[in-house]
Amino acid sequence: MSQRIRAGIWGVGSAVPERVLTNHDLEKMVETSDEWISTRTGIKERRISEPGEKTSDYAAAAARRALERAGVHPEELDLIIVATLTPDMFCPPTACIVQHKIGAVRAGAFDLSAACSGFVYGLDVAARGIEAGAYRRVLVIGADLLSHVTDYTDRSTCVLFGDGAGACVLGPVEEGGVLSTYLGADGSGGPKLTVPAYRSNEAAVNGAASREGTFIRMDGNEVFKFAVRVMPEAALEAVRRAGVAVEDVRLFIPHQANIRIIDAAAKRLGISGDRVFSNVHKYGNTSAASIPIALDEAVEQGRISPGDLVVLVGFGGGLTWAASVLQWTGERVPRA
Ligand code: UT7
Repeated sequence: MSQRIRAGIWGVGSAVPERVLTNHDLEKMVETSDEWISTRTGIKERRISEPGEKTSDYAAAAARRALERAGVHPEELDLIIVATLTPDMFCPPTACIVQHKIGAVRAGAFDLSAACSGFVYGLDVAARGIEAGAYRRVLVIGADLLSHVTDYTDRSTCVLFGDGAGACVLGPVEEGGVLSTYLGADGSGGPKLTVPAYRSNEAAVNGAASREGTFIRMDGNEVFKFAVRVMPEAALEAVRRAGVAVEDVRLFIPHQANIRIIDAAAKRLGISGDRVFSNVHKYGNTSAASIPIALDEAVEQGRISPGDLVVLVGFGGGLTWAASVLQWTGERVPRA
């Protein structure tokens, strides 16, 4: 009888721009204050890419780090998934641009659009494909340059968003790995968070498109209520599917949108603060990139060890949500 194939994360990487935009910088741009932003969101600063930089630049940088830690050569990859709502352009897909940049000549490549939940959606597709025996090495990237769709005259949104990318290489593992995933969507809530038209960075650079209709618009209060409800629900469903208990979870890595949302979700789950990862103060909301960047930092800081149970949970535009329980297997090439 053939043994069930399990999928796990072999390596993680991330990349963020060097330029820091602080709350004090924003005070000079819109009618806001460091005090308001800090108390309402927990964000102190975010990273902003340089003009001309593209999502694929950060996606490829994060991917190279993840590949190194996985001990995988780009030519070994079977599939590349890039979750993003800010692709370099509509066509070619950003995943194909990344494929070329990193030299993953054997890999299929496609973009996945599920807003801030996109990375966990991608993780689900990758894990299922590996478990089915269809793929052996899959690269999943969450990458977004939200500064490209942010209206820096709108104080209700511009204080929230930042740029970055995170990536994971998945492959078969003997035990543990991705124990469960749970994906959800409610299209009726779509109008609560929209980017009606997308001005790709290419067009932005060439001045080929007007800015009208190309910004994130959001009903912040409604999205807040949705997030506080759906994050614990999604996490609990993933935990149930994994057949584990919330008490046994070592680290809860939620989408980094607002510290109040994270705290409220953790409280509803009964998870103490020391078991919740947050770096929202440094990066703001980086959409699909936020969970893999957080996972990378959690590994870097030694917050998870092999055997630990980790919950990833995201929510966002769509509306969408997604959660996964991992039993951490450790990276293939241990960090120095
Ligand atoms: O990835 C998913 C994406 N989205 C989210 O996760 C966002 C979810 N929502 C939120 O995080 C919160 O709703 C916000 C941070 C966006 C807003 O916080 P809030 O506590 O819900 O504030 P509010 O929208 O109820 O606004 C309160 C007040 C308003 O003034 P009035 O009407 O009470 O006089 C706003 O005009 O704060 C005002 N305000 C600001 N003041 C200073 C809104 N933005 C700002 C600002 N600086 N940047």
